[in-house]
Amino acid sequence: GPDEIRRLVELASDLAREAGLLVHDGRPARVDVHSTKSSPQDVVTAMDLASEDLLRRRLTQRRPHDGVLGEEEGFRAGTSGVTWVVDPIDGTVNYLYGLPAYAVSVAAVTAPDPALEPTPENWTVLAGAVFAPWDGRLFASGRGIGATLDGRPIRVNPARPLVDSLLGTGFGYLAERRRAQAAVVAALLPQVRDIRRIGSAALDLCTLASGGLDLYYERGLAPWDLAAAALIAQEAGALVTGLRGAPAGRAMTVAGPPGSFESLRSLLEDLDADGGA
Ligand code: IPD
Repeated sequence: GPDEIRRLVELASDLAREAGLLVHDGRPARVDVHSTKSSPQDVVTAMDLASEDLLRRRLTQRRPHDGVLGEEEGFRAGTSGVTWVVDPIDGTVNYLYGLPAYAVSVAAVTAPDPALEPTPENWTVLAGAVFAPWDGRLFASGRGIGATLDGRPIRVNPARPLVDSLLGTGFGYLAERRRAQAAVVAALLPQVRDIRRIGSAALDLCTLASGGLDLYYERGLAPWDLAAAALIAQEAGALVTGLRGAPAGRAMTVAGPPGSFESLRSLLEDLDADGGA
C-alpha cells in the first residue's frame, strides 16, 4: 500500500544521501586523471566499492530479507519479494575528473521470482531515489505518488516539436558501439534544438523529470543506471520505453512527455538505434 511505498522512498532517499556524501567526501582533492602509476580509475573503483558496501550494510540492518543487485557486487537474492537495485556512483568519468554530474541511485523493485535477478523487462519499481552530492539535490519517487526534487513535486516539460526540443543522451564505453551511436547522433542533431551529454544516465532522466531536458534516449543502459530514475521520470509525467513495443532496458531507453516522445521513438526506430534488437 501507499504507506509501505512511502517507507521505501524514505529509506531509498536516506541511503542515497548517506552513500552520496561518502563518495563526495572521499574524493581526493586532486585526482591526476592521466596518472600512469596507480591508475586513477582505482580511485573510482575504491569509492564505488565503499559506496556499495555501505548501501549493502545498511540494507542488511534495515531490511534483512530483501535482495540486492548492485553494479560492483552483483545479485544477492532475498525472500521478501523486494530487491534493491543500487548504483554506487553513476557518472564515474565525471567523478574522476571532478565534474559535478554524478550521483548515487537506489531503487526498490519487485519481480515475479525473488530468487532470480530482476531485470528492467520483468520488474516493477516501487520506489527510487537519486542523490547528486555536488549540489545536494535529492530526486525521489514512489510508484503512484509522484516525483519530487528536494521534497517539491516535479513535472516534465510539455511536449514541443522536435526542432524545439533539447535532447539528452549518452554513450557506451566500447568503440564499436560508439560508432553506431555517433551515426544516430549525426542523424538527430540537425533535427533538434541541441543535444546534451551530461555523463550520468540517472541524472539525465532526473533532469528530464524536472524540466532541464525535453527528451532523452540511450542505448546500452545497465539495470542500476535506470531503476530509480526511470520511475522518477514516469511519475513526473514521462513515457519511458524501448523501441518497437519493448520495455526500457539495455537495448534502448527513450523518455519524454506524450506528444513528442512518439516522434523521437519513431525516428530512433527508423535509425535502428537499438541495433535492430
Ligand atoms: C554511465 C553513465 C553514462 C552513460 C553510460 C553509463 P557509470 O554509468 O550513466 O552517462 O552514458 O552508459 O555506463 O559507468 O558512470 O556508472
